[in-house]
Amino acid sequence: MAKNDRANFGSKLGVILASAGSAVGLGNIWRFPYETGNHGGAAFILVYLGCVLFLGIPIMIAEFSIGRHSRANTARAYQILAPGTPWRWVGRMGVLAGFLILGYYSVVAGWTLEFICEAATNSFAGKSATEFISSFNGFVANPWRPVLWMIAFMLATHLIIVKGVEKGIERSAKVMMPALFILLIILAICAVSLPGAGAGIEFLLKPDFSKVDGNVLLGAMGQAFFSLSLGMGCLCTYASYFRNDTNLPRTALNVGFIDTMVAILAGFIIFPAAFSVGIEPDAGPSLLFITLPNVFQQAFGSLPWLAVLLSVMFYVLLALAALTSTISLHEVVTAYLHEEFNLSRSKAARLVTLGCTILGIFSSLSLGVGKEYTLFGMTLFDFFDFLTAKIMLPLGGLFIAVFTGWFLDKQIVWEEMSNRGTLKLPLYKAIIFILKFVAPVAIGFIFVNELGII
Ligand code: PFF
Repeated sequence: MAKNDRANFGSKLGVILASAGSAVGLGNIWRFPYETGNHGGAAFILVYLGCVLFLGIPIMIAEFSIGRHSRANTARAYQILAPGTPWRWVGRMGVLAGFLILGYYSVVAGWTLEFICEAATNSFAGKSATEFISSFNGFVANPWRPVLWMIAFMLATHLIIVKGVEKGIERSAKVMMPALFILLIILAICAVSLPGAGAGIEFLLKPDFSKVDGNVLLGAMGQAFFSLSLGMGCLCTYASYFRNDTNLPRTALNVGFIDTMVAILAGFIIFPAAFSVGIEPDAGPSLLFITLPNVFQQAFGSLPWLAVLLSVMFYVLLALAALTSTISLHEVVTAYLHEEFNLSRSKAARLVTLGCTILGIFSSLSLGVGKEYTLFGMTLFDFFDFLTAKIMLPLGGLFIAVFTGWFLDKQIVWEEMSNRGTLKLPLYKAIIFILKFVAPVAIGFIFVNELGII
C-alpha cells in the first residue's frame, strides 16, 4: 500500500483518545486489581508505577517512532527499517501475541455483556456476598452463555474494524473515554465511603516491601506492558496512522497518565469494596465481577432505581472500554494480514474474527467443562494470559528497546521524537539511555530471576 493511501487519525485529540482507548480496558479495571490483590497490594503498585515510568513510557515512545516512521503494520515496519534482518520476527511475534490476547480477552469482554443484562434486570438486588460468588462461578462454568456473549463481542469488534480507522476507532473513543472516567470517580467515592472500607484503602497505600520478590516484579512488569498495550506492535500500528505533527513523547505521557489514573481509580473501587464485604483481595480474575455488584447493592440498595442506573452505566462503559481495546488488538492482526498477504481489509478482518472466536471458545470452556485440560498446570485461559502478558509482551518490549536504542539510525529516532527538530526534547538523552541500557537490563534481570532461566 502506498504511503499516502493509508488512513490517518483526524485530530490530535483523536490520536490520544484512540491510543488511550487501546490502553484503557479490562487490563486496568479487571486485571490490575486482581494482580494487585494477588501480589500483596501497595508494594506491587509502587513497583508497577516504576515500570510504567521507567520502562513503559520510553518503550511507548520507541513504538510510536517505529510505527510512524515506517507507516506500515508492525511486521512490515521492521522490514522497512531493517531490511533483510531477523528483526521482522519481533513484529510477527507481536501479531501472534495480539491474536492470542484477543482469544481470551474477548471472553472477559463477553462477561461484561452478561453483567449489563443482570444489572438491567436488577438481579443484584438482595444477594449476599456468597451468592454473588456462587452465581459468578456458575456463570463462567456454563458451557453456553459465556461463549455466546464472547461471540457477540467479537462480532461488535468486527463491525467497527471493517468501518476503518477514523470513523470506527476514533469516533467511538472520543465519547467513551471521558464518560468512563467520570463514572469511575463517582464509584470510587461510593466505595471508599462503605463501612469497613478503610482496610481496603490501607491495603492500597501501605506498602509491605518484604512481599516484593521476583514474582511481584514479573507480575508488575507484565501488567505494565499489558495495560499500556505495549510490546506487541499495537501502538506501533496505531502510530502508523498518526499525523506528522503528532507529538510522540507528549502523547506517550498522556496515554501513560490516563491509563495509570484509571487503574488506580479501579483499585480505589475494588479494594475498599472487597474489604467492606469480606471478600479476599486475592480472589483472582473473579474479583471485579464479585465485588462490584456488591458495591451497587450496598451503596444504593435503598434506592433501587439508582442502583440499576449506575450499574448498567458501569457495565456498559466497561464493555466499551474493552471494545476500544479489542479493536486495537484486532487491528494489529488485520493490518498485518491485509498488507502482507494482499487480502482485502474485510477479508482479513473476517479471518481474524473467525480465528479469535475459535480460540475464545476454547478459553471460555477451559474455565468450566474443560477445566481438567491444563498446560503447564494452567487452564488454557490462564496459560494464554501468562504466555502473553508475562512472556511475550515484556520480551517484545525488550526487543523494541534494543532495536531503537542500538540498531535504528539515531537520526531517524531523533527526527521522529522531535518532529524533525521542531519540538524541544530535553529528555532525549535520558530516553535513549533507558532504551539502550535500563530497559534491556531490567527486563532481562526480571526474566532470568523469575523464570529460572539460569
Ligand atoms: N491495554 C489493554 C487493557 O489494558 O485492557 C489490553 C491490550 C490491548 C493489550 C492492546 C495489548 C494490546 F496490544
